[in-house]
Amino acid sequence: MEIRVASHAGFCFGVRRATEAAEAALSGGGRIYTLGRLIHNDGYIQSLKERGVGEISSDDIDSVCERARGGEKITVVIRAHGEIKEDLEKLQRCSAENRCFTLLDCTCPYVNKVRRIAAENSGEGRLFILIGSAEHPEVRGIMSCCRGEGKVFGSALELERWMHSENAPAPGSVRISIAAQTTQKLSEWKKCLKILKKLYTNAEVFDTICNVTEERQTEAEALADESDAVIVIGSRGSSNTVKLYEICKSKCNSTFLCEDADSLRDLVIPE
Ligand code: F3S
Repeated sequence: MEIRVASHAGFCFGVRRATEAAEAALSGGGRIYTLGRLIHNDGYIQSLKERGVGEISSDDIDSVCERARGGEKITVVIRAHGEIKEDLEKLQRCSAENRCFTLLDCTCPYVNKVRRIAAENSGEGRLFILIGSAEHPEVRGIMSCCRGEGKVFGSALELERWMHSENAPAPGSVRISIAAQTTQKLSEWKKCLKILKKLYTNAEVFDTICNVTEERQTEAEALADESDAVIVIGSRGSSNTVKLYEICKSKCNSTFLCEDADSLRDLVIPE
């Protein structure tokens, strides 16, 4: 049996950057928290926990800042997906006013670019559209940067339904811009653009799918096409992993998703 490993497998640049920042913070002392799960990898999250890295939610920000005001040394790490603008600003203020508090904003530069696009292309007379999963933290963070109306569509079908509904603006009545969640499936994104351009011919397109995502998806598709079985290793909660699984499954029916070494051991691959 020949086993081939995708050349783009492993942590992407943005995730590596965030994990390295958290690791470096460990040697600085004080309490360290990540706002939400740092990455979608249970094994790694567990190892951070064992080394004393806690996890807080948006609701904990005030109390953490209060403790830092009381003299406790605290570091908060922002994950690569980015955070809601309001929470980020609160933490930035806390960090500016308090020497005991350190903010490590590890939002991936590619995600920050989409956040800037959302801010610059929303507001009076504009409509910003994002193709992505509405509940994903990256998407919620990007949409929080809009200065006016913004819409999120999870698929070309959803976009098309909205375009044919009475809620869609008449062509030419607003300036429309469209961007994608960084891990969006390339084929779905292309379908969305084709549909949007039929009605909103002047829509401005920002191709924001991350290069890493694009390279991975292209390689996974080619590998799946040539393989008898494919194993995608990653978390079910990771947008990247789920998209890779869907792409491979569409090319190779014997595609399996494994979250860790244990589930890999239990996997029975058909002959
Ligand atoms: Fe990773 Fe940043 Fe791309 S987090 S998938 S390098 S957008």
